[in-house]
Amino acid sequence: MDHLQASPSVQTMSTAFCFFFFSFTAVFSVFSFLIYVLRMKPCCNCNTCRSYLTLSWTRNFANLGDWYTHLLRNSPTGTIHVHVLQNTITSNPDNVQHILKTRFDNYPKGKPFSTLLGDLLGRGIFNVDGDSWKFQRKMARLEISSVTNRSYALDIVTQEIRTRLIPLLASAASGERGGLLLDLQDIFRRFSFDNICKFSFGFDPGCLLSSLPSSSFADAFDLASKLSAERAIMASPVIWKIKRFFNVGSEKKLKEAIHVVNDLAEGMIKQSREMGFSARKDLLARFMGSVNDDKYLRDIVVSFLLAGRDTVAAALTGFFILLSSHPRVESLILEELDRVMDPDQEVASYEQMRHMHYLNAAVYESMRLYPPIQFDSKFAVEDDVLPDGTFVSKGTRVTYHPYAMGRMERIWGSDCLEFKPERWLQDGLFVQVCPFKYPIFQAGVRVCLGKELAIVEMKSVVVALIRRFNIQSFVADQEPRFAPGLTATVRGGLPVQVQERRRR
Ligand code: HEM
Repeated sequence: MDHLQASPSVQTMSTAFCFFFFSFTAVFSVFSFLIYVLRMKPCCNCNTCRSYLTLSWTRNFANLGDWYTHLLRNSPTGTIHVHVLQNTITSNPDNVQHILKTRFDNYPKGKPFSTLLGDLLGRGIFNVDGDSWKFQRKMARLEISSVTNRSYALDIVTQEIRTRLIPLLASAASGERGGLLLDLQDIFRRFSFDNICKFSFGFDPGCLLSSLPSSSFADAFDLASKLSAERAIMASPVIWKIKRFFNVGSEKKLKEAIHVVNDLAEGMIKQSREMGFSARKDLLARFMGSVNDDKYLRDIVVSFLLAGRDTVAAALTGFFILLSSHPRVESLILEELDRVMDPDQEVASYEQMRHMHYLNAAVYESMRLYPPIQFDSKFAVEDDVLPDGTFVSKGTRVTYHPYAMGRMERIWGSDCLEFKPERWLQDGLFVQVCPFKYPIFQAGVRVCLGKELAIVEMKSVVVALIRRFNIQSFVADQEPRFAPGLTATVRGGLPVQVQERRRR
């Protein structure tokens, strides 16, 4: 084996190379970190930055969003700047319109965001700007808004409700599940994951089967989204980039989780090609008609999973938290359902849902107080001035904050903290408000493509559950505490007790 051993001079050279390589990486990392720290203005001693850095805000507020709400309420313009984060945060609808519509070109998602989610989402619609975004948006809009696709989506949701959601709650109500409390947040996450996988891939992960099985795909997807989001809260991007380079710690786990997601997505694409995608109705099959690049197809579909899964689950969780402490609203919804539906009907039709104005109002109102995406950021390409006079320098992160906006007296009046579906009704009919006042689904040029689908999904669930069950939440009296992440997740879940409702 001697001939395979390197000569001493080659060994010395390779040791020297390693030494220089690692020294260079270390010096470069420290240098980048210093630049990053200096740009963050860690020395800023204003009250807001001090509170942020010392976490002293946690003494008075349950969630970061509540503290920002307090600061934004006290700001005469409804806008604040957190210097240490280089982040301008606004709750001003005129500013929101400026960012999302008037000067849309100046406020893309930007590189910092796309780098964080790049490994998971690749070039999917959620993670790109420019031509690639335009192409995907045009195609996705055509697909999602087609009548065939809408009824396909409603069929999937209805079937999941009938065959899984209702039987599961019925077994909890009958005591078959040992009288244990159900975590409704977990149930909704399983429910929406099954739906969005069927809609996007034509694949059923079966997360809501009665045994509540663990799904390696759902687990990997959860872990990958969580670890990607956690990159954003690290002191410096240099840290996760080094961990990724050396494939250690959380970055190693992220890579493994993405591997599982990729394996499944690639398997689905292959299977779809073999079976002949033209006969299938799922989104993947529809995109396959115009995209040949399998990696790009994978990216497109994974973005849809992220867009449609946790958002719907978070919206339903917020709705049931509020409903539990507002029996009057529940009674009014039930009265409306009795007027529109047959006595023994389990699930409402699309046409019937169009006549449920009070339910629609309650769904919109719940997301005003508990938006599934609590804030959203863009990055300014050039210097700009917002309509309220705030100067934004090039490269600044600009965040609009739906959670805070739903709690602003100057937008919603003095009863802004009350859950009052009536504020959405005029003569009993539901009336939309200006989308820049209520940017729950974003607004303007890049407004959510799944909005109608999400609302129909939510209403279908609410109708089916509250007609048959009495659901009592155990966190109704406390303000929920949210875990950090891309979508609102209540810490500790939503434990509920379920009873069959007596026929009225
Ligand atoms: C209550 C449920 C939902 C809420 C609150 C919601 C909210 C949002 C928001 C705030 C954005 C903008 C995100 C950003 O650009 O950073 C967005 C984008 C998007 N949403 Fe939704 N969404 C929901 C459900 C859905 C569903 C079910 C689907 C798909 C079937 C979907 C598909 C999309 C897509 C494709 C985009 C990207 C649009 C673009 O970038 O042009 N969403 N959504």
